[in-house]
Amino acid sequence: MCGIVGYTGINNATPILLEGLDTLAYRGYDSAGIAVWDGENIVMKKEKGQLSNLKAILEREPVTGCCGIGHTRWATHGEPSYINSHPHGDAKKQLVLVHNGIIENYVRIKSMLMDRGCVFVSDTDTEVVAQLLGDVYNGDPIKAIVEAMKLIEGSFALAILFRDDPHRIYCVCKDSPMVVGFGRDGAHIASDIPAMLSYTRDVTFMGDKQIAVLSPDGIAFYNEFGTPIDKGCSHIDWDLDAAKKGSYEHFMMKEICEEPVAFRKTAEQYVSFREPRLKADCFPWDADNCAELKRIRIIGCGTAYHAGLLGKKYFTELAKIPVEAEIASEFRYSGYTFEEGEALLLVSQSGETADTIAALRMAKQAGVRTIAVCNVIGSTIAREADEVLFTYAGPEIAVAATKSYLTQITVLFLAALRLGEIRGTISGERVKALLSELTSIPEHMQKLIDDREAIQYFASREFSAKHVFFIGRGIDNALSMEAALKLKEVSYIHSDAYAAGELKHGTIALIEEGTLVVGLITQRHLASKTASNLEEVRVRGATVLALTNGSMPDIAGHCNKVWELDEMNELTAPFCAIIPMQLFAYYMAVQKGCNVDKPRNLAKSVTVE
Ligand code: G6P
Repeated sequence: MCGIVGYTGINNATPILLEGLDTLAYRGYDSAGIAVWDGENIVMKKEKGQLSNLKAILEREPVTGCCGIGHTRWATHGEPSYINSHPHGDAKKQLVLVHNGIIENYVRIKSMLMDRGCVFVSDTDTEVVAQLLGDVYNGDPIKAIVEAMKLIEGSFALAILFRDDPHRIYCVCKDSPMVVGFGRDGAHIASDIPAMLSYTRDVTFMGDKQIAVLSPDGIAFYNEFGTPIDKGCSHIDWDLDAAKKGSYEHFMMKEICEEPVAFRKTAEQYVSFREPRLKADCFPWDADNCAELKRIRIIGCGTAYHAGLLGKKYFTELAKIPVEAEIASEFRYSGYTFEEGEALLLVSQSGETADTIAALRMAKQAGVRTIAVCNVIGSTIAREADEVLFTYAGPEIAVAATKSYLTQITVLFLAALRLGEIRGTISGERVKALLSELTSIPEHMQKLIDDREAIQYFASREFSAKHVFFIGRGIDNALSMEAALKLKEVSYIHSDAYAAGELKHGTIALIEEGTLVVGLITQRHLASKTASNLEEVRVRGATVLALTNGSMPDIAGHCNKVWELDEMNELTAPFCAIIPMQLFAYYMAVQKGCNVDKPRNLAKSVTVE
């Protein structure tokens, strides 16, 4: 939620800030703003709506200076409006700041400051921090930040410009991500790595309540008491172009097209394909620990949770271990008591999702072992989990997750396979056979991507659908959940997933003439069951599309349209099956003229509750 950038150095800050905000726009796009020291004043420009609105203002009224901060907002407190846009300042005009997070006790602090005569102009919790800082400031920025931090509760990442010290950016964060890095021409700050990749690949992730002071010639770090500390940096080897759209019209399409490579890169980290065999770090526990493991609880949000649902199927089938998959925001308040021998497996692309972090910390406090499946090196979850199985999707910019889901299910599959191998629940031969299957997956994927016109054509006929239902059994039920989420988030068409066998228990009442029902049938042994369910909706007027694993002539008679995957193993078919579903969502959204990469009301990184 919300993107922050900052730069101080020898170059003009404005284009650097705008470039950074462009990259971070997936974090929120309700408004955008910058503040730049122009040599005499801190000049603020902000505007409601997309970044292009701010750019238009800056073209008319340019701002030049070598130190500045910027913000792209996902509104939490206060409607999206000019007045609520960041940056915000204090009444005495000593400072301006941008903020990501939620100040939970802002009402109390606001009334305390109002009693002291402070006049507020916006409805935001952010202005409360600016006014509070202004209130405690007496010429020493670090001291003011330390004092203010003692009073504020909640999550925050702040970048602050003090009028008395206009060449430096002061930053502090808690439970909200912030990355700093020093490039050739100055120091940078951002909410996420891609925003500074063109300037440096050596970045430092700020820890909770740590303070960073960015100057044109270096970065200094302090702890929450204002004492200087040393911090190392991580080298990021993401390809710079990976965070750029290139010739694609949308990031979402680019990222779908990158899936064969992302799959291969991820699989190669954990599999030695020559033999083939699983590498040991695929499930990084020794045999004793694996034998003692009694239950796995998989936690995630959104698409990552859906990957967890599929992970549950994999661990159950391959490692014969009880598994639960839960939504992080539910789990954290469920009052759950961890059991002996349990492990928590957290799935998160960003590694910064607030609810998933909370679940991780609960487990750690209870002494439960944690494993993360994560895409971002140095992120909070990657740092705090006991073990990390990284996905190698590269930066994902479109709000709708595509290649991150694929790489998450790939890692979960391989981890389950390895756990099964260690626990002896799967034979060496079956492991080898399944690993051999993987080598041809990128080719099958590529074929689906190359043949995407058929999906585009289908979407061009169906995009006015009001309701779409996805049905499937077992693995296909888990896949359906992700297919339905993809469609609704990018095209705003109401879509839902149902276990095919549950239709008769209520949902079938919603079927009427022309309702689109998509049946996912990758598990051949369940094909006839789902086919019956498709027939039940077809005779009630539904338009039926089926996605099948290879040719299934018996299914065709129950459908208006069939999309066939190349025939493959039921456990590895999801790697391919999800692609047509993502493409379908994409084309439906494009046909409807939706903002595919930045769907309304959404943000990619949900760092607040
Ligand atoms: C948001 C994003 C989703 C993502 C979810 C979890 O809702 O829009 O695409 O799946 O957060 O994010 P994470 O970074 O933890 O995977």
